This record gives sequence, structure tokens and C-alpha cells, in this order.
Amino acid sequence: MPDPGEERLFFGRRKGRPLRAGMQRRIDEDLAVRLAPVETSAANATDPKAWFPQRPRAVWLEIGFGGGEHLAWQARHNPEVGLVGCEPFVNGVASLLRHLDDVEGDRVRIHPDDARDVLDVLMPESLERIFVLHADPWPKRRHHYRRIVQHETIARFYELLQPGGILRMATDDPGYLVWILSRITAHPTFRWAGSSMADFTERRDDWPETRYEAKARREGRMPVYMEFRKPA
Ligand SMILES: C[S@@+](CC[C@H](N)C(=O)[O-])C[C@H]1O[C@@H](n2cnc3c(N)ncnc32)[C@H](O)[C@@H]1O
Repeated sequence: MPDPGEERLFFGRRKGRPLRAGMQRRIDEDLAVRLAPVETSAANATDPKAWFPQRPRAVWLEIGFGGGEHLAWQARHNPEVGLVGCEPFVNGVASLLRHLDDVEGDRVRIHPDDARDVLDVLMPESLERIFVLHADPWPKRRHHYRRIVQHETIARFYELLQPGGILRMATDDPGYLVWILSRITAHPTFRWAGSSMADFTERRDDWPETRYEAKARREGRMPVYMEFRKPA
């Protein structure tokens, strides 16, 4: 967590092509009612279930949801769960808002900014699942410090997961794969939740393809799927 007053650096894109009028309207009108109240939440002590009008059975967090297809799918298929999504890229946030038209209930909260802000405020053991799907690999060695997966973030994910909770990650970048696995294996108690090679190469039925993954496949790159569990 940065010290008070210290600005945290974010290196990704916040804006892309100008939004069409309808998408801009979603940002101007629809986002406000779905905002996660991160600014006013107590550090390390916030129960994310309190962010929803009806307390969900569990809360799942997606970091860097991109176009939001995966998050909206999970919300549609898991009506008892509250989802929190973080994405600083405004075009992605507008896209998620559109996908949420098909989701019943008020069960999604959005932080349209750096996910580390959310990681800072949540209380320990407040999440059942965390998704980090195709995070930016920052391939150049001098940019590796920009990667969201660091020893500290892995330790924070572990702290925020409830016992038995699950961290799902995916990447198509071989260098980032090795980086992720070395950081997970350095953690004393995170456990790989798979049992065979297929668990790395095949998506589970409750894991829809993301937009980035589809592009990677079209371009001949091979996604790798990973699921890690905090022991119950
Ligand atoms: C390669 S894209 C993948 C998007 C999506 N998960 C998918 O698979 O289609 C990585 C996403 O992570 C977002 N991102 C990067 N750093 C982030 C951060 N610190 N917090 C939240 N999102 C972040 C980027 O804006 C981008 O949309």
C-alpha cells in the first residue's frame, strides 16, 4: 500500500479510440450506480459484501477485465455471487457496462482504475475467487516491475482469499508464465488446484474465453490456464 500522499504509478492505457455516443452515455450515466466506493472505504478493513444492496453469498474479484465478457458471464452464471471488477481502460469499462444489460440484479461493482486500490481496502479473507486473466506481460526486462504479479501481490491475494478460495490466472506469454509460476511456488502455502497437464492447456467449463485469449489463439499463441487454492 503506498504511503498517504504518495502517488501510485500506473503504466497501462486509460483511453483508446473516442467512445461512440452510446458508450459515452454508459460511462456518464450507468457507471455511477455501479462504482465500488473505494475512495471512502477503510484500508484493510472493508467487507466488499457491504458494497451490494443485498449481501451476496460470496464476492469474486476480476483484475483487468478488458472488455468485461468474462466478468459478465460469471455474473450471469453465478446469481448468488457479487462481482467486483477493476479496469482503468475506459473503453473496456464501457464495454462491460453494455454486457451487464444481460445480467439480472445489482451484483457488479466497478473500480475504473488500478486494482491495487481495491486490494488495499479489502479486509482479509473477504474474497472467494480472484481472476487475473492475461495481465499485461510487460516483456522487456526493464519493465518487469510493472507486472501486476509480484511477490507482494501474490501474498496479498492469499491474504484476501478465504480458506478454500481460488486464484485463477492465464497467460499466453512464456516469459510471464515462468514469472507467475516462480512467484506462486515461492509462496509457502498457495497450492496448484489442478491434477493433470490438461488443467494447464484446457479451460474449465466455468471459464469462458476472454477477448484477449481469442486474439492470442487467432495469432497462433497458446494460452496457459492456472488455478491455485488457499488451503481450506
Ligand atoms: C492484456 S489485457 C487482458 C484483458 C482481459 N482480461 C482479457 O483477457 O481479454 C490486460 C488488461 O489489464 C488491465 N490492467 C493493467 N494494469 C491494471 C491494473 N493495475 N489494475 C487493473 N487493470 C489493469 C489493462 O487495462 C488491460 O485491459
